[in-house]
Amino acid sequence: MATERTSIHGQWSGRLAFILAATGSAVGLGNIWKFPYITGEYGGGAFVLVYLLCVIGIGIPIMMAEVMLGRRGRQSPINTMTSLAAEEGQSHYWKYLGWTGVIAGFLILSYYSVIGGWAMAYIFRMGSGGLEGQTMDGVGSIFVDLVSDPERLIAWHTIFITLTMIVVARGVKSGLEKAVRYLMPALLVLLLVLVGYAMNEADFGAGIDYLFTPDFSKITGTGILAAMGHAFFTLSLGMGAIMVYGSYLPKDISIAKTSIIISLADTAVALLAGMAIFPLVFTYNLGEKISADPGLLFNVFPYVFGQMPGGTFFGTLFFILLTFAAWTSAISLIEPGVAWMVENRGLNRVKAAVWAGITTWALGIASIFAFSGTKLGDIFYVILGVFGIRAEFTSGFFDLSFFNMIDYLTANIMLPLGGMSIAIFAGWLMTEESRRDEMAIQHPALYLSWLYLVRYVAPLAVIIVFLKAVGIF
Ligand code: TRP
Repeated sequence: MATERTSIHGQWSGRLAFILAATGSAVGLGNIWKFPYITGEYGGGAFVLVYLLCVIGIGIPIMMAEVMLGRRGRQSPINTMTSLAAEEGQSHYWKYLGWTGVIAGFLILSYYSVIGGWAMAYIFRMGSGGLEGQTMDGVGSIFVDLVSDPERLIAWHTIFITLTMIVVARGVKSGLEKAVRYLMPALLVLLLVLVGYAMNEADFGAGIDYLFTPDFSKITGTGILAAMGHAFFTLSLGMGAIMVYGSYLPKDISIAKTSIIISLADTAVALLAGMAIFPLVFTYNLGEKISADPGLLFNVFPYVFGQMPGGTFFGTLFFILLTFAAWTSAISLIEPGVAWMVENRGLNRVKAAVWAGITTWALGIASIFAFSGTKLGDIFYVILGVFGIRAEFTSGFFDLSFFNMIDYLTANIMLPLGGMSIAIFAGWLMTEESRRDEMAIQHPALYLSWLYLVRYVAPLAVIIVFLKAVGIF
Protein backbone atom coordinates (compact mmCIF):
# COMPACT_ATOMS: atom_id res chain seq x y z
CA MET A 1 0.00 0.00 0.00
CA ALA A 2 1.91 3.04 1.35
CA THR A 3 0.80 5.71 -1.06
CA GLU A 4 3.96 7.78 -1.33
CA ARG A 5 2.94 11.43 -1.27
CA THR A 6 4.96 14.56 -1.95
CA SER A 7 4.33 17.92 -0.33
CA ILE A 8 3.28 20.78 -2.58
CA HIS A 9 5.20 23.11 -0.25
CA GLY A 10 8.62 21.52 -0.82
CA GLN A 11 11.06 19.62 1.41
CA TRP A 12 13.89 20.32 3.82
CA SER A 13 17.24 20.08 2.07
CA GLY A 14 18.32 17.34 4.46
CA ARG A 15 18.62 15.98 7.95
CA LEU A 16 20.47 18.94 9.41
CA ALA A 17 18.00 21.41 7.95
CA PHE A 18 15.13 19.59 9.60
CA ILE A 19 16.91 19.34 12.94
CA LEU A 20 17.73 23.03 12.88
CA ALA A 21 14.28 24.13 11.82
CA ALA A 22 12.55 21.96 14.41
CA THR A 23 15.03 23.01 17.08
CA GLY A 24 14.43 26.60 15.98
CA SER A 25 10.74 26.02 16.60
CA ALA A 26 11.30 24.31 19.94
CA VAL A 27 13.92 26.68 21.35
CA GLY A 28 12.26 30.00 21.96
CA LEU A 29 10.77 32.20 24.60
CA GLY A 30 9.52 29.03 26.27
CA ASN A 31 13.05 28.02 27.21
CA ILE A 32 14.63 31.31 28.11
CA TRP A 33 11.76 33.48 29.29
CA LYS A 34 9.03 31.11 30.46
CA PHE A 35 10.90 28.15 31.92
CA PRO A 36 12.70 30.17 34.63
CA TYR A 37 9.62 31.99 35.87
CA ILE A 38 7.29 29.02 35.94
CA THR A 39 9.98 27.04 37.70
CA GLY A 40 9.93 29.86 40.24
CA GLU A 41 6.16 29.79 40.37
CA TYR A 42 6.00 26.10 41.22
CA GLY A 43 8.86 25.96 43.64
CA GLY A 44 11.97 24.85 41.75
CA GLY A 45 13.55 21.37 41.76
CA ALA A 46 10.45 19.20 41.98
CA PHE A 47 8.88 21.10 39.11
CA VAL A 48 12.04 20.69 37.01
CA LEU A 49 12.11 16.98 37.73
CA VAL A 50 8.49 16.48 36.69
CA TYR A 51 9.15 18.53 33.56
CA LEU A 52 12.16 16.36 32.66
CA LEU A 53 10.15 13.18 33.21
CA CYS A 54 7.41 14.55 30.97
CA VAL A 55 9.92 15.37 28.23
CA ILE A 56 11.29 11.83 28.30
CA GLY A 57 8.14 9.79 28.86
CA ILE A 58 5.59 11.88 26.99
CA GLY A 59 7.34 14.52 24.90
CA ILE A 60 9.87 12.47 22.95
CA PRO A 61 7.48 9.63 21.99
CA ILE A 62 4.78 12.11 20.98
CA MET A 63 7.26 14.13 18.96
CA MET A 64 8.15 10.97 17.05
CA ALA A 65 4.45 10.25 16.51
CA GLU A 66 3.74 13.80 15.37
CA VAL A 67 6.62 13.86 12.88
CA MET A 68 5.52 10.46 11.63
CA LEU A 69 1.93 11.52 10.97
CA GLY A 70 3.17 14.66 9.22
CA ARG A 71 5.52 12.80 6.96
CA ARG A 72 2.92 10.23 6.07
CA GLY A 73 0.27 12.84 5.29
CA ARG A 74 2.59 15.40 3.64
CA GLN A 75 0.06 18.24 3.98
CA SER A 76 -1.10 20.80 6.51
CA PRO A 77 -2.19 19.08 9.74
CA ILE A 78 -5.88 19.49 8.83
CA ASN A 79 -5.50 17.73 5.50
CA THR A 80 -2.95 15.29 6.84
CA MET A 81 -5.42 14.12 9.47
CA THR A 82 -8.23 13.99 6.91
CA SER A 83 -6.18 11.84 4.52
CA LEU A 84 -4.71 9.57 7.16
CA ALA A 85 -8.08 9.01 8.82
CA ALA A 86 -9.57 8.00 5.45
CA GLU A 87 -6.60 5.79 4.64
CA GLU A 88 -6.70 4.04 8.01
CA GLY A 89 -10.48 3.68 7.96
CA GLN A 90 -11.07 6.11 10.85
CA SER A 91 -13.66 8.83 11.41
CA HIS A 92 -13.36 12.03 9.39
CA TYR A 93 -13.70 13.93 12.68
CA TRP A 94 -9.94 13.52 13.07
CA LYS A 95 -9.58 16.61 10.90
CA TYR A 96 -10.68 18.65 13.92
CA LEU A 97 -7.42 17.72 15.57
CA GLY A 98 -5.82 19.77 12.81
CA TRP A 99 -8.30 22.58 13.35
CA THR A 100 -7.82 22.91 17.08
CA GLY A 101 -4.10 22.96 16.39
CA VAL A 102 -4.46 25.90 14.02
CA ILE A 103 -6.50 27.76 16.62
CA ALA A 104 -4.04 26.96 19.42
CA GLY A 105 -1.19 28.23 17.25
CA PHE A 106 -2.94 31.54 16.61
CA LEU A 107 -3.79 31.96 20.28
CA ILE A 108 -0.23 31.25 21.39
CA LEU A 109 1.28 33.58 18.81
CA SER A 110 -1.02 36.40 19.88
CA TYR A 111 0.83 36.77 23.19
CA TYR A 112 4.12 35.22 22.05
CA SER A 113 4.52 38.11 19.68
CA VAL A 114 3.98 40.61 22.47
CA ILE A 115 6.83 39.08 24.48
CA GLY A 116 8.91 38.89 21.29
CA GLY A 117 8.24 42.62 21.11
CA TRP A 118 9.64 43.11 24.63
CA ALA A 119 12.80 41.33 23.51
CA MET A 120 13.13 43.66 20.53
CA ALA A 121 12.53 46.73 22.67
CA TYR A 122 15.38 45.60 24.94
CA ILE A 123 17.79 45.34 22.01
CA PHE A 124 17.50 49.11 21.79
CA ARG A 125 17.33 49.73 25.53
CA MET A 126 20.56 47.81 26.04
CA GLY A 127 22.18 49.05 22.86
CA SER A 128 21.71 52.68 23.84
CA GLY A 129 23.57 52.04 27.09
CA GLY A 130 20.47 53.03 29.04
CA LEU A 131 20.82 50.10 31.43
CA GLU A 132 24.47 50.61 32.35
CA GLY A 133 24.98 50.75 36.08
CA GLN A 134 21.25 50.90 36.82
CA THR A 135 20.05 49.84 40.24
CA MET A 136 17.70 46.91 40.54
CA ASP A 137 14.83 49.32 41.07
CA GLY A 138 15.83 51.33 38.04
CA VAL A 139 15.83 48.21 35.89
CA GLY A 140 12.44 47.24 37.31
CA SER A 141 10.85 50.56 36.54
CA ILE A 142 12.20 50.56 32.98
CA PHE A 143 10.39 47.25 32.52
CA VAL A 144 7.16 48.49 34.07
CA ASP A 145 7.26 51.56 31.84
CA LEU A 146 7.46 49.35 28.79
CA VAL A 147 4.69 46.92 29.67
CA SER A 148 2.30 49.65 30.70
CA ASP A 149 2.72 51.62 27.51
CA PRO A 150 0.22 50.29 24.95
CA GLU A 151 1.51 52.41 22.07
CA ARG A 152 5.04 51.07 22.33
CA LEU A 153 3.85 47.53 22.84
CA ILE A 154 1.58 47.71 19.82
CA ALA A 155 4.39 49.06 17.68
CA TRP A 156 6.75 46.23 18.65
CA HIS A 157 4.04 43.61 18.37
CA THR A 158 3.27 44.86 14.86
CA ILE A 159 6.93 44.65 13.88
CA PHE A 160 7.25 41.15 15.29
CA ILE A 161 4.18 39.86 13.46
CA THR A 162 5.40 41.48 10.26
CA LEU A 163 8.77 39.74 10.56
CA THR A 164 6.97 36.45 11.12
CA MET A 165 4.76 37.02 8.08
CA ILE A 166 7.76 37.81 5.91
CA VAL A 167 9.52 34.52 6.66
CA VAL A 168 6.39 32.44 6.30
CA ALA A 169 5.50 34.22 3.06
CA ARG A 170 8.88 33.34 1.56
CA GLY A 171 8.52 29.70 2.38
CA VAL A 172 10.13 28.02 5.33
CA LYS A 173 12.94 26.61 3.28
CA SER A 174 14.55 29.70 1.84
CA GLY A 175 16.09 32.02 4.36
CA LEU A 176 15.02 30.24 7.50
CA GLU A 177 17.18 27.20 7.03
CA LYS A 178 20.17 29.45 6.60
CA ALA A 179 19.34 31.73 9.50
CA VAL A 180 18.94 29.02 12.13
CA ARG A 181 22.21 27.43 11.11
CA TYR A 182 24.12 30.34 12.64
CA LEU A 183 21.70 31.76 15.14
CA MET A 184 21.03 28.70 17.22
CA PRO A 185 24.72 27.97 17.92
CA ALA A 186 25.30 31.65 18.67
CA LEU A 187 22.49 31.67 21.22
CA LEU A 188 23.96 28.61 22.88
CA VAL A 189 27.39 30.24 23.17
CA LEU A 190 25.88 33.34 24.73
CA LEU A 191 23.95 31.34 27.27
CA LEU A 192 27.18 29.57 28.18
CA VAL A 193 28.83 32.96 28.70
CA LEU A 194 26.01 33.93 31.05
CA VAL A 195 26.27 30.65 32.93
CA GLY A 196 30.02 31.27 33.23
CA TYR A 197 29.32 34.71 34.62
CA ALA A 198 26.81 33.30 37.10
CA MET A 199 29.38 30.69 38.16
CA ASN A 200 32.03 33.25 38.91
CA GLU A 201 30.10 36.20 40.16
CA ALA A 202 27.04 34.75 41.79
CA ASP A 203 25.92 32.16 44.27
CA PHE A 204 25.99 29.34 41.76
CA GLY A 205 25.44 26.64 44.37
CA ALA A 206 22.21 28.20 45.64
CA GLY A 207 20.87 28.50 42.11
CA ILE A 208 21.75 24.92 41.21
CA ASP A 209 20.25 23.69 44.46
CA TYR A 210 17.05 25.50 43.73
CA LEU A 211 16.85 24.01 40.23
CA PHE A 212 17.92 20.47 40.95
CA THR A 213 17.01 19.62 44.53
CA PRO A 214 13.41 18.51 44.43
CA ASP A 215 11.27 19.46 47.38
CA PHE A 216 8.14 17.43 46.80
CA SER A 217 6.18 19.21 49.46
CA LYS A 218 6.08 22.18 47.10
CA ILE A 219 4.58 20.35 44.17
CA THR A 220 0.83 20.38 43.71
CA GLY A 221 -1.55 18.96 41.10
CA THR A 222 -1.52 22.25 39.24
CA GLY A 223 2.28 22.30 39.41
CA ILE A 224 2.42 18.89 37.76
CA LEU A 225 -0.07 20.04 35.13
CA ALA A 226 2.05 23.11 34.45
CA ALA A 227 5.20 20.95 34.14
CA MET A 228 3.49 18.69 31.64
CA GLY A 229 1.99 21.63 29.76
CA HIS A 230 5.43 23.19 29.59
CA ALA A 231 6.95 20.01 28.19
CA PHE A 232 4.45 20.21 25.32
CA PHE A 233 4.94 23.93 24.90
CA THR A 234 8.72 23.92 24.86
CA LEU A 235 8.90 21.01 22.40
CA SER A 236 6.27 22.70 20.16
CA LEU A 237 4.06 19.63 20.44
CA GLY A 238 0.36 18.99 20.21
CA MET A 239 -0.81 21.61 17.72
CA GLY A 240 0.64 20.50 14.41
CA ALA A 241 3.78 22.66 14.23
CA ILE A 242 6.03 19.63 14.41
CA MET A 243 3.58 17.72 12.22
CA VAL A 244 3.81 20.30 9.45
CA TYR A 245 7.62 20.36 9.77
CA GLY A 246 7.53 16.57 9.54
CA SER A 247 5.54 16.86 6.32
CA TYR A 248 8.61 18.47 4.72
CA LEU A 249 10.94 15.72 5.92
CA PRO A 250 12.59 13.53 3.26
CA LYS A 251 11.67 9.88 3.50
CA ASP A 252 15.12 8.43 4.23
CA ILE A 253 15.73 10.36 7.48
CA SER A 254 15.32 8.70 10.87
CA ILE A 255 12.39 10.12 12.80
CA ALA A 256 13.52 8.59 16.09
CA LYS A 257 17.07 9.94 16.06
CA THR A 258 16.18 13.42 14.90
CA SER A 259 13.36 13.74 17.47
CA ILE A 260 15.71 12.77 20.28
CA ILE A 261 18.36 15.26 19.16
CA ILE A 262 15.80 18.07 18.92
CA SER A 263 14.36 17.33 22.36
CA LEU A 264 17.76 17.12 24.02
CA ALA A 265 18.92 20.39 22.46
CA ASP A 266 15.74 22.08 23.64
CA THR A 267 16.09 20.76 27.18
CA ALA A 268 19.74 21.79 27.36
CA VAL A 269 18.87 25.38 26.46
CA ALA A 270 16.17 25.57 29.15
CA LEU A 271 18.46 24.19 31.84
CA LEU A 272 21.26 26.56 30.86
CA ALA A 273 18.89 29.51 31.07
CA GLY A 274 17.88 28.38 34.55
CA MET A 275 21.52 27.90 35.56
CA ALA A 276 22.26 31.45 34.50
CA ILE A 277 19.25 33.12 36.01
CA PHE A 278 18.72 31.52 39.45
CA PRO A 279 22.22 32.01 40.86
CA LEU A 280 21.89 35.70 39.98
CA VAL A 281 18.45 35.90 41.54
CA PHE A 282 19.77 34.52 44.82
CA THR A 283 22.90 36.63 44.85
CA TYR A 284 20.99 39.85 44.40
CA ASN A 285 18.28 38.81 46.84
CA LEU A 286 15.62 38.87 44.23
CA GLY A 287 13.84 35.99 45.92
CA GLU A 288 10.49 37.71 45.73
CA LYS A 289 10.96 38.07 41.98
CA ILE A 290 10.82 34.37 41.34
CA SER A 291 7.19 33.93 42.08
CA ALA A 292 5.28 33.66 38.85
CA ASP A 293 6.65 36.83 37.36
CA PRO A 294 6.75 36.96 33.56
CA GLY A 295 9.11 39.89 34.00
CA LEU A 296 11.80 37.74 35.68
CA LEU A 297 14.11 37.57 32.69
CA PHE A 298 13.63 41.25 31.88
CA ASN A 299 14.42 42.28 35.43
CA VAL A 300 17.40 40.05 36.13
CA PHE A 301 19.45 39.87 32.93
CA PRO A 302 19.43 43.61 32.11
CA TYR A 303 20.59 44.35 35.64
CA VAL A 304 23.44 41.86 35.35
CA PHE A 305 24.48 43.15 31.95
CA GLY A 306 24.39 46.63 33.40
CA GLN A 307 27.03 45.59 35.97
CA MET A 308 29.22 43.41 33.74
CA PRO A 309 32.27 44.67 31.87
CA GLY A 310 31.22 44.75 28.21
CA GLY A 311 27.65 44.25 29.39
CA THR A 312 26.14 46.65 26.90
CA PHE A 313 27.61 44.66 24.05
CA PHE A 314 26.75 41.23 25.41
CA GLY A 315 23.34 42.37 26.57
CA THR A 316 22.45 43.76 23.17
CA LEU A 317 23.62 40.55 21.56
CA PHE A 318 21.59 38.51 24.03
CA PHE A 319 18.35 40.30 23.19
CA ILE A 320 19.06 40.05 19.47
CA LEU A 321 19.44 36.31 19.82
CA LEU A 322 16.37 36.05 22.04
CA THR A 323 14.44 37.85 19.32
CA PHE A 324 15.73 35.41 16.73
CA ALA A 325 14.86 32.43 18.92
CA ALA A 326 11.33 33.81 19.30
CA TRP A 327 11.11 34.48 15.59
CA THR A 328 12.10 30.97 14.49
CA SER A 329 9.44 29.64 16.89
CA ALA A 330 6.74 32.06 15.84
CA ILE A 331 6.81 30.96 12.22
CA SER A 332 6.01 27.41 13.24
CA LEU A 333 2.92 28.64 15.09
CA ILE A 334 1.23 29.89 11.93
CA GLU A 335 2.74 27.52 9.38
CA PRO A 336 -0.03 24.90 9.86
CA GLY A 337 -2.75 27.50 9.17
CA VAL A 338 -0.85 29.02 6.28
CA ALA A 339 -0.19 25.64 4.66
CA TRP A 340 -3.92 24.89 4.92
CA MET A 341 -4.92 28.21 3.29
CA VAL A 342 -2.55 27.46 0.42
CA GLU A 343 -3.92 23.95 -0.01
CA ASN A 344 -7.63 24.61 0.39
CA ARG A 345 -8.23 28.25 -0.36
CA GLY A 346 -5.99 28.49 -3.38
CA LEU A 347 -4.13 31.44 -1.87
CA ASN A 348 -0.46 31.95 -2.59
CA ARG A 349 1.87 31.89 0.42
CA VAL A 350 2.09 35.66 0.60
CA LYS A 351 -1.66 36.16 0.89
CA ALA A 352 -2.02 33.24 3.29
CA ALA A 353 0.74 34.63 5.52
CA VAL A 354 -0.87 38.07 5.54
CA TRP A 355 -4.22 36.63 6.61
CA ALA A 356 -2.64 34.62 9.38
CA GLY A 357 -0.64 37.65 10.45
CA ILE A 358 -3.62 39.98 10.61
CA THR A 359 -5.61 37.49 12.68
CA THR A 360 -2.89 36.99 15.28
CA TRP A 361 -2.13 40.70 15.29
CA ALA A 362 -5.71 41.48 16.28
CA LEU A 363 -5.67 38.87 19.03
CA GLY A 364 -2.37 40.24 20.29
CA ILE A 365 -3.88 43.66 20.81
CA ALA A 366 -6.13 42.05 23.39
CA SER A 367 -3.24 40.75 25.44
CA ILE A 368 -1.49 44.11 25.20
CA PHE A 369 -4.42 45.88 26.78
CA ALA A 370 -4.53 43.20 29.41
CA PHE A 371 -0.80 43.59 30.17
CA SER A 372 -1.05 47.32 30.46
CA GLY A 373 -4.05 47.06 32.74
CA THR A 374 -6.28 49.06 30.42
CA LYS A 375 -10.02 48.85 30.94
CA LEU A 376 -10.31 47.67 27.34
CA GLY A 377 -8.62 44.46 28.43
CA ASP A 378 -11.66 43.69 30.54
CA ILE A 379 -13.81 43.35 27.45
CA PHE A 380 -11.88 40.28 26.48
CA TYR A 381 -12.34 38.71 29.88
CA VAL A 382 -16.03 39.18 29.43
CA ILE A 383 -16.00 37.65 25.95
CA LEU A 384 -14.01 34.63 27.10
CA GLY A 385 -16.24 34.38 30.14
CA VAL A 386 -19.27 34.18 27.87
CA PHE A 387 -17.71 31.14 26.24
CA GLY A 388 -17.38 29.63 29.67
CA ILE A 389 -13.61 29.57 29.55
CA ARG A 390 -13.20 31.03 32.99
CA ALA A 391 -15.74 28.93 34.75
CA GLU A 392 -14.56 25.61 33.44
CA PHE A 393 -11.28 25.17 35.18
CA THR A 394 -9.77 25.47 38.65
CA SER A 395 -11.12 28.14 40.90
CA GLY A 396 -7.79 29.98 40.99
CA PHE A 397 -8.40 30.61 37.35
CA PHE A 398 -10.64 33.55 38.17
CA ASP A 399 -7.70 35.59 39.33
CA LEU A 400 -5.57 35.15 36.25
CA SER A 401 -4.99 37.87 33.74
CA PHE A 402 -5.93 37.59 30.10
CA PHE A 403 -2.42 36.46 29.21
CA ASN A 404 -2.47 33.79 31.88
CA MET A 405 -5.82 32.64 30.66
CA ILE A 406 -4.72 32.14 27.08
CA ASP A 407 -1.50 30.58 28.30
CA TYR A 408 -3.35 28.20 30.62
CA LEU A 409 -5.90 27.24 28.01
CA THR A 410 -3.30 26.54 25.31
CA ALA A 411 -0.29 25.11 27.17
CA ASN A 412 -2.07 23.22 29.93
CA ILE A 413 -5.17 22.05 28.09
CA MET A 414 -5.11 22.28 24.29
CA LEU A 415 -1.55 21.06 23.73
CA PRO A 416 -1.75 18.03 26.06
CA LEU A 417 -5.12 17.04 24.58
CA GLY A 418 -3.77 17.48 21.06
CA GLY A 419 -0.68 15.45 21.94
CA MET A 420 -2.74 12.73 23.53
CA SER A 421 -4.92 12.49 20.43
CA ILE A 422 -1.82 12.24 18.26
CA ALA A 423 -0.51 9.43 20.46
CA ILE A 424 -3.81 7.57 20.27
CA PHE A 425 -4.03 7.91 16.51
CA ALA A 426 -0.42 6.82 15.97
CA GLY A 427 -0.40 4.12 18.62
CA TRP A 428 -3.84 2.56 18.30
CA LEU A 429 -5.62 3.56 15.11
CA MET A 430 -2.99 3.30 12.43
CA THR A 431 -2.26 -0.14 11.11
CA GLU A 432 0.92 -1.78 12.31
CA GLU A 433 2.05 -1.88 8.71
CA SER A 434 1.79 1.89 8.09
CA ARG A 435 3.37 2.63 11.45
CA ARG A 436 6.38 0.40 10.87
CA ASP A 437 6.78 1.58 7.32
CA GLU A 438 6.88 5.25 8.31
CA MET A 439 8.88 4.96 11.54
CA ALA A 440 11.41 2.60 9.96
CA ILE A 441 13.11 1.84 13.27
CA GLN A 442 15.55 -1.01 12.72
CA HIS A 443 15.91 -2.31 16.28
CA PRO A 444 12.82 -4.26 17.32
CA ALA A 445 13.31 -3.38 20.99
CA LEU A 446 13.50 0.34 20.26
CA TYR A 447 10.40 0.21 18.13
CA LEU A 448 8.49 -1.65 20.81
CA SER A 449 9.57 0.75 23.54
CA TRP A 450 8.33 3.66 21.48
CA LEU A 451 5.07 1.88 20.77
CA TYR A 452 4.59 1.14 24.46
CA LEU A 453 5.21 4.78 25.34
CA VAL A 454 2.76 6.21 22.78
CA ARG A 455 0.12 3.59 23.43
CA TYR A 456 0.08 3.50 27.20
CA VAL A 457 2.43 5.82 29.00
CA ALA A 458 1.80 9.09 27.17
CA PRO A 459 -2.03 9.03 26.98
CA LEU A 460 -2.45 7.70 30.52
CA ALA A 461 0.01 10.20 31.93
CA VAL A 462 -1.93 13.06 30.35
CA ILE A 463 -5.21 11.77 31.79
CA ILE A 464 -3.77 11.21 35.26
CA VAL A 465 -2.22 14.68 35.32
CA PHE A 466 -5.55 16.23 34.29
CA LEU A 467 -7.40 14.33 36.99
CA LYS A 468 -4.79 15.28 39.54
CA ALA A 469 -5.02 18.94 38.61
CA VAL A 470 -8.76 19.03 39.24
CA GLY A 471 -8.21 17.16 42.47
CA ILE A 472 -9.83 13.87 41.50
CA PHE A 473 -6.77 11.72 41.62
N1 TRP B 1 8.43 25.90 21.57
C1 TRP B 1 8.41 27.33 21.48
C2 TRP B 1 9.05 27.90 22.73
O1 TRP B 1 9.39 27.16 23.62
C3 TRP B 1 7.05 27.89 21.25
C4 TRP B 1 6.33 27.22 20.15
C5 TRP B 1 6.63 27.26 18.82
C6 TRP B 1 5.24 26.34 20.27
N2 TRP B 1 5.78 26.46 18.12
C7 TRP B 1 4.93 25.87 18.99
C8 TRP B 1 4.53 25.91 21.37
C9 TRP B 1 3.90 24.97 18.81
C10 TRP B 1 3.51 25.00 21.17
C11 TRP B 1 3.20 24.52 19.91
O2 TRP B 1 9.20 29.07 22.85
